[in-house]
Amino acid sequence: MSIEHLLWVEKYRPKRIDDIIDQDEVKKRIKEFLKTGNLPHMLFYGPPGVGKTTMALAIAYELYGEHWRENVLELNASDERGITVIRERVKEFARTAPMGKAPFKLVILDEADNMTSDAQQALRRLMEMYASNTRFILIANYVSRIIDPIQSRCAMFRFSPLPKDVALNRLKEIAQAEGVEVTPDGLEAIWDISQGDMRKAINILQAASALSKKVTAEVVYRTVGHVEPKEILDIVAAAASGNFTKARDKLRQVMYEYGASGKDILKIFQRELLRGTIEIPDEGKTELMELIADIDYRLTEGCDEEIQMLAFLSKLMVVSKKYGLKIRTEVPEAAKLAETTKAVEEAAKTTTTKKKTTTKKKSSSSSSGSE
Ligand SMILES: Nc1ncnc2c1ncn2[C@@H]1O[C@H](COP(=O)(O)OP(=O)(O)OP(=O)(O)O)[C@@H](O)[C@H]1O
Ligand SMILES: [Mg+2]
Repeated sequence: MSIEHLLWVEKYRPKRIDDIIDQDEVKKRIKEFLKTGNLPHMLFYGPPGVGKTTMALAIAYELYGEHWRENVLELNASDERGITVIRERVKEFARTAPMGKAPFKLVILDEADNMTSDAQQALRRLMEMYASNTRFILIANYVSRIIDPIQSRCAMFRFSPLPKDVALNRLKEIAQAEGVEVTPDGLEAIWDISQGDMRKAINILQAASALSKKVTAEVVYRTVGHVEPKEILDIVAAAASGNFTKARDKLRQVMYEYGASGKDILKIFQRELLRGTIEIPDEGKTELMELIADIDYRLTEGCDEEIQMLAFLSKLMVVSKKYGLKIRTEVPEAAKLAETTKAVEEAAKTTTTKKKTTTKKKSSSSSSGSE
């Protein structure tokens, strides 16, 4: 079996533009260009795993059908060999006429933002030199790293992280096709880790399903070697109830059994705090955010991991006691909804609670967005 069929990301890579999920604006503009029969040079940019390479290949398929490979030169700009090799290969490639209905061939240059600006200057000349019978699709994660003269020669397409519902639906389809059962908390866990990166999401699903035919949150976190948020919540709950010994033992267990670093733990703690699973009035939340930043800084500076994490626990206990801290057990999404409704009602009563609502709203959008 070929690698393409072993890897689900390849097996389920959409072939046609219409099968690419989301990215509606991009699809619409590209289809308009294709209708005219001509294409400009194009620059695709956006975060990893959202369909940039997939779109470039789908365009090739659209233009040349089954024989697209003969008309497409795929290059990776971050190859150590650099612009000299790119120049040679483009020259060689552009020498022969395209096959099929399109009057030009396609050069797909991935990771263009990894090129030095000198190399980009050379690339820009190449794009001009061969414009009569080639079109370039440049792909980048960071558009700011592409020099202006290239940007101004390309039609620009911004790809966004996939929204949660669309991404999870796609995952469900893939799971079904592969005969894998994924529980709702398993899906949540994959989303937690992948945040709109579809490649990551599919890879996690595949790896997790190799461990167990039933993919639960626990399996997912085990697969990627992440600590399950529940473990961190247990530590927090122990600290909040004033049981320092229990909190410390649990902390050590998580650090040694999962091999989690203090920073890993702080990150999960912060995320749960933002999304409201760890519930505390705003003043307390502010103090905890500062505490996280402090400890994180000290860990970066190389302070002793255990001493710092125990200091974190002690301060967490004090802050919990002062403001009252609760752990929510229901699914965060449902919790958020209930919370927003409650907060809106309360906001009508007093101005202080009004302030709280906005903070809550902000935090809920940040946890579902680009974390
Ligand atoms: N919009 C999408 N619709 C359907 N599947 C997608 C989409 N985006 C990504 N995928 C899935 O994720 C895989 C990786 O996507 P792709 O190679 O297009 O990412 P990319 O945007 O080029 O990322 P990178 O910046 O890391 O190169 C695809 O093979 C496909 O399975
Ligand atoms: Mg890519």
